[in-house]
Amino acid sequence: MKAENRTTETIRKRYDRIAPVYDLMESLVERWRFGKWRELLWSKVEGKKILEVGMGTGKNFPYYPAEAEVTAIDFSEKMLRRARARAERYGVKVNLQRQDVQDLRFDDNTFDVVVATFVFCSVPDPIRGLREVGRVCKPGGQVLLLEHVLSANSILAFLMNLANPILSRAMGPNINRRTVQNAAISGLKVEGVTDLAAGIFKLIEAKA
Ligand SMILES: C[S@@+](CC[C@H](N)C(=O)[O-])C[C@H]1O[C@@H](n2cnc3c(N)ncnc32)[C@H](O)[C@@H]1O
Repeated sequence: MKAENRTTETIRKRYDRIAPVYDLMESLVERWRFGKWRELLWSKVEGKKILEVGMGTGKNFPYYPAEAEVTAIDFSEKMLRRARARAERYGVKVNLQRQDVQDLRFDDNTFDVVVATFVFCSVPDPIRGLREVGRVCKPGGQVLLLEHVLSANSILAFLMNLANPILSRAMGPNINRRTVQNAAISGLKVEGVTDLAAGIFKLIEAKA
């Protein structure tokens, strides 16, 4: 197995492992902040044909626009199972698939909008994943990302870099990703970045 595939497998297994406790782990912060930020992101969605990348257990389901045609992918089988159960429980119309964002099985220019919330902190090769997002999104289509990123404050950034190896091994996400820059490097046209909290949580609005 190639080294990059081994890394992807390791991270995928981490998400399989935390899937049963993921909702519980995030329940407080979900109620305190994340829920509001999801609402803000989904209020900006304009197209009908939507791809959600890394939907996890399906926390964005309540915000899907009523008339939208949504496909949602995740590479973790256990996350996918939870999302399926949630979709059935709440009657959410969504096409759920197991796929790796680094290697999407969709044609070029398929979606009007691509959304991801707290995903590119975990994707093993985020630039490759973001390039795939740009490829499957129609030219000029919306790419909306809710992400935590490395702080611009040098002391905080030093501490985040220091803590990252332990946290990412235990939980999955990296706390030192430069997702705004990664989006630009991947060819997306970043049109707006809203700071949601502490210079770390960002809403990134881009065009493919
Ligand atoms: C921190 S969770 C966020 C889940 C969900 N988006 C939310 O807002 O609650 C990150 C999710 O991204 C998924 N993920 C990470 N890398 C991925 C990849 N390469 N392809 C597809 N999904 C991926 C993980 O399996 C996990 O479900």
